[in-house]
Amino acid sequence: MELVNVEKKGRIGIIVMNNQKALNALSEKFLGELNEAFDVVEADSDVDVVIITGFEVEVEKDGVKKMKRSFIAGADIKEMLPLTPAESIRWGKVGSDLNLRIENFKVPVIAAINGFCLGGGNELAMSCDIRIASDKASFGQPEVGLGITPGAGGTQRLARLVGAGIAKELIYTGRVIKPDEAYRIGLVNRVVPAEELMDTAIALAEEILKNSQVAVQQSKRCINFGLQTDIQTGNAFEQQAFAVTNGTEDKKIGMTAFVEKNPVKNFVGR
Ligand code: CAA
Repeated sequence: MELVNVEKKGRIGIIVMNNQKALNALSEKFLGELNEAFDVVEADSDVDVVIITGFEVEVEKDGVKKMKRSFIAGADIKEMLPLTPAESIRWGKVGSDLNLRIENFKVPVIAAINGFCLGGGNELAMSCDIRIASDKASFGQPEVGLGITPGAGGTQRLARLVGAGIAKELIYTGRVIKPDEAYRIGLVNRVVPAEELMDTAIALAEEILKNSQVAVQQSKRCINFGLQTDIQTGNAFEQQAFAVTNGTEDKKIGMTAFVEKNPVKNFVGR
């Protein structure tokens, strides 16, 4: 892969988007590489949490040093410009399918949002389970200012995440907001200083990794399923997951540790 790097820290797979020239704009090539990166972490059975983030480099212009960073500055506008309506359906589906893949990825995916998180970038971030923002990030769905609607789930996930009223205001105005506002409206879970972003995301991943991963993954399935259905059907789905986890080695390990007042729990993930 040219534009995306995959790293590993213990049981955490770290995907770093590194298309510096275009601020990680989502071209078809870049989306292909992102899919490949998810193939890599999916194929690694040791990876129980994924973190996705963008590049951060020091650049010098006219003798002045500054940080250049981006999560994703949106779908690639230069690639979209010539698309016909028919072509745009196929093109939009690539991003939309990647976002559905991330949303339903077996293990939790944390977005560590380090910079521009616009349009298709915000759509990808909203497909992740948890969003941590750097104080240098910015968020928005600026599509209507380009004459298009969001095309990879923005109208659907933003309304579900922050409510229809706020989603409509953000999408109709195309306004770009700062991290404190993103936190206030519930778009991100927390905001941290830029230099603490990755440590915070890793600490969060490690907090998740202390628990039974079969229970974490079943919980993810239940929450996602429940958001698409009525409460009775959601509860029935949860009962199935509850039954699955009641038959695991992890249940014996976790509950025996409690009963024996033993703080050590070496979960095995089955
Ligand atoms: N598509 C294609 N290229 C992009 C891009 C994008 N979304 N965002 C940035 N770039 C490119 C720029 O064209 C520029 O390339 P050149 O040097 O070759 O000209 C390079 O990245 C650096 O960008 P800027 O010079 O503009 O950097 P800046 O720091 O001045 O501004 C920015 C950064 C505010 C993010 C600005 O680039 C910008 O507004 N980008 C577009 C944001 C946007 O509208 N995103 C939504 C796209 S639509 C969408 O996402 C549809 C969907 O739902 C699927």
